[in-house]
Amino acid sequence: MVTKLIFLFLVGHVLSASIRLDLGGSDQWMFRSGNGNSTGMATVPGDIYADLLNVGVLTEDPLKGQNDVALRWIGRTNWIYERKFTVDKPMYSKDTVLLVIRGLDTVGDVYINNYFVLSSTNQFHQHVINVRRYLQPGNNKIVINFESPVNNADVSAKLYELNNAHFVPPDCPPPNYNGECHWNFIRKVQSSFSWDWGPSFPTTGIWQPMFIQATDSAYVDRLSGAVVKQGDNFVVNVELYIYSAVTDSSEIHVYIPKLNIDKKILAKLKRDTMNKVVGAITIPASKVKLWWPNGYGQQNLYDVTAVAMFNGESLRSETIQIGFRTIELVQDFVDPSDVLKGRNFYFKINGVPIFLKGSNWIPVSSFPARNFTARMEFLLESARDIGMNALRVWGGGRFEAEEFYQMADRKGILLWHDLMFACALYPVDGAFLSNVKEEITTQITRIKHHPSILVWAGNNENELAIRQRWWIVGSYPVGQQIKDYIKLYKDTIQPLVKELDNSRPFLLSSPSNGVETEEEGGVAVDPANPRYGDVHYYNDISNLWTPSTYQIPRCATEYGVQSYPLKHTMMQYINESQWFYTSSDMLHRQHKPGGVLTVLKQVFDHFELPVGCNPSIFNDSSCLTGNFMSKFAYLSQFHQAIAYQVETEHYRRWRGRLDETGQGNTMCGLYWQLNDVWAAPTWSSIDFNLNWKPAHYFARRFFAPVIASMLVKNNVVQVFVVSDLQTDISNATVTLDALVWDNAFDPVYSTRTTVDIKALSSNPVHFDASNPEPKDFVLRARVFDSSKKQVGFDGILLPDHLKSNANFGKLTIGNFYQKTETEYKFTVTAEKVVPIVWIDVADSVKDRGVVATFSDNAFAMTTAQVTVTLKVRQNPKKLKLKSSDLTICHLGNCGMTDH
Ligand SMILES: *[C@@H]1O[C@H](CO)[C@@H](O)[C@H](O)[C@H]1NC(C)=O
Ligand SMILES: *[C@@H]1O[C@H](CO)[C@@H](O)[C@H](O)[C@H]1NC(C)=O
Ligand SMILES: *[C@@H]1O[C@H](CO)[C@@H](O)[C@H](O)[C@H]1NC(C)=O
Ligand SMILES: *[C@@H]1O[C@H](CO)[C@@H](O)[C@H](O)[C@H]1NC(C)=O
Ligand SMILES: *[C@@H]1O[C@H](CO)[C@@H](O)[C@H](O)[C@H]1NC(C)=O
Repeated sequence: MVTKLIFLFLVGHVLSASIRLDLGGSDQWMFRSGNGNSTGMATVPGDIYADLLNVGVLTEDPLKGQNDVALRWIGRTNWIYERKFTVDKPMYSKDTVLLVIRGLDTVGDVYINNYFVLSSTNQFHQHVINVRRYLQPGNNKIVINFESPVNNADVSAKLYELNNAHFVPPDCPPPNYNGECHWNFIRKVQSSFSWDWGPSFPTTGIWQPMFIQATDSAYVDRLSGAVVKQGDNFVVNVELYIYSAVTDSSEIHVYIPKLNIDKKILAKLKRDTMNKVVGAITIPASKVKLWWPNGYGQQNLYDVTAVAMFNGESLRSETIQIGFRTIELVQDFVDPSDVLKGRNFYFKINGVPIFLKGSNWIPVSSFPARNFTARMEFLLESARDIGMNALRVWGGGRFEAEEFYQMADRKGILLWHDLMFACALYPVDGAFLSNVKEEITTQITRIKHHPSILVWAGNNENELAIRQRWWIVGSYPVGQQIKDYIKLYKDTIQPLVKELDNSRPFLLSSPSNGVETEEEGGVAVDPANPRYGDVHYYNDISNLWTPSTYQIPRCATEYGVQSYPLKHTMMQYINESQWFYTSSDMLHRQHKPGGVLTVLKQVFDHFELPVGCNPSIFNDSSCLTGNFMSKFAYLSQFHQAIAYQVETEHYRRWRGRLDETGQGNTMCGLYWQLNDVWAAPTWSSIDFNLNWKPAHYFARRFFAPVIASMLVKNNVVQVFVVSDLQTDISNATVTLDALVWDNAFDPVYSTRTTVDIKALSSNPVHFDASNPEPKDFVLRARVFDSSKKQVGFDGILLPDHLKSNANFGKLTIGNFYQKTETEYKFTVTAEKVVPIVWIDVADSVKDRGVVATFSDNAFAMTTAQVTVTLKVRQNPKKLKLKSSDLTICHLGNCGMTDH
């Protein structure tokens, strides 16, 4: 069978009666503005910002200073792209000449030799269209007239308001976003009009590949399919999309080489049509190796290829990879005798209940057409390396690039996948609904074979927005808002998604109450109810280092707090003179209304203020210095890290436990947000320059499979051991120590006990001796298995107030040596307990493009020495690092040179 396979592929190449002409590249396309005042060579795939930079109309990175505002005219301009191409004799002799476009951004008309070919209305549509009749031998011209996305959204919104006697909120983002209005009226990346974490860059351009495919027979456009389990078998529901030049029948072979599968499908193809050919391949489950999320097993993947035999010609599809796994979303009542206690909400993969540990993914860049393979790989690797098993592809972004899903498949990152609607209500006229239907059909068909995709959710926060009355529109009462919402998500999108993909669950919104939302008709009375579905939770006022601040939900899919990037990151985008929190450039990047004061208050509720500065008087001049800003930036990152630890461990401690009112059984902790699109105060745990913030290092510890987690309740320390392992740890020893700042590393209190740690649950630990009353202690809990080997990391609970100006003694880096080409090892030595040690590579090394991470960082030092491995992730100049290339600090000196 393998021999036959190779033979077929060879024949395919030899006999191919098809010709392809790539229309991409950097030396054919021209762009010009509608009024003709800027013009030049364009790159395809690409975007107008890159083109303008390339030809020197823009002289500076759009992400610097306040360029997002200075460059507003770009998004408000119509742009024309055009190129010539040659149709040679062999191509002209073909019956069918297809123009294949994988994506246009966004609204515009395509012409070939002045003949109208198609209108694009959606960044997520694709086009395959026979353009044979518009062509001529020799020179041909293709022109795309893009309308300004900003103007298009504006005009559409006004027209809709005229026809429906109400506008569809929100009108515009808050003024300090410097964003554009009515993103809900244009089907493109919603956050390209600005968001609270990012600037407005409403891109225009040919953002995906484009080519001409000529054929006398047929063109295999794509292979797709989802995998479902039926009884003891897996069924691969294959879909092959073939554009046929003739009406004929075809023998199609679908190959899964690793399983020795050659499935024959006979298809009747219709002329001049995109034919959808389906087939089902049934495979006994015992024959396959399952795909598992990170931490539960291997990510086994299988290549699938289809070959269509057609008049002696064999046409080969691209190869896709599938995985075999089952997904079950469990939503039974937590207490069938008292249904008011609500329903569970968790996912089982291959029958194993999985606590979703991870974060939220925003687009990798504001300029999605560029090549971000390396950046994406870094970010997803950073997720996997710290034990994440899930990311939420958030609804204000995009259907991601194919390589994103491939990476997620390979790394075992489950994707909670929103559909691309966010923080808005949407039009529901016929044109919009059919536009959206085509978008969802195209995109779900494109990506549904990826085993990493866990669930579809209709939108981000739109159900919540209606119920929490985010917008009051007199002419658009809540009842009508609900009707329209139901029309879009429940009546239009839900049945469509179920028809396209029955291999994973669908939720109407995130957050929602899951089936409870459906039982309430599609919009729940209280979508934030912690007893159902998922929740998003933010709090600007309360202490984020105290578990009692938080809800006890079934599943937390968003939560977080802002932190500022460190000075080195900011300095690449703003001037040093702007390095204080009320400077015009720093305020420009703080999109959260009231955000500066919120972070100042939150941070200095826990850390000591430098002498003389009172940030509650917002503009107290002694706070408005570079020194203060550097310290504030560090502390904001430590504050964020501890807040993420406290909140995430709180959720994990509620695994498998219910309180008397039925809250608990929490099964997800996806903090907001993983990545950044610019250097700004945001909720990310990795900054725009790819530096892991302390929160990312903390996440490695609080996402570990087994954690020893502490909390203080009624002045008593409680310890839980939370285990996501599938086997119990019997006869484990749990120790609890209290350390103080001035007793070297000797605990002032220690206790231990032996317990059985149950798999897949949170285990409260009871000590015989009374637990210490928490004072100014660093509390440390450890778990050892029955062979006295430590399981997981030290659990650490820091006091609620940290004296950032205290003297924590001297920290020393020693024994530095190179272990492998990309790894260095060294020791960190301390004199006494240090709350947070922070190691970094020196700015001079970062300036040369080095990106490094550490095996551990942002940790509490409770022993005299620890060993750390530095991993170089990017090193364009192949620098050899020395110990003097590292910096080390603790709260007392991070970011401070005086005060
Ligand atoms: C930085 O400061 C210099 C000198 O004051 C000025 O010329 C330049 O425009 C500033 N750059 C930005 C991005 O503000
Ligand atoms: C081109 O014209 C637009 C609209 O009049 C204007 O905003 C923009 O600054 C001009 N750009 C250049 C490069 O001249
Ligand atoms: C994108 O960049 C990566 C390197 O980061 C390279 O391997 C790849 O070929 C590039 N892709 C394209 C389409 O240029
Ligand atoms: C400082 O801020 C306060 C209140 O925020 C305001 O009343 C005052 O005018 C400000 N002073 C200056 C110099 O900006
Ligand atoms: C648990 O540990 C204790 C003390 O180390 C030992 O006596 C006992 O046999 C162990 N029990 C099991 C089930 O391993």
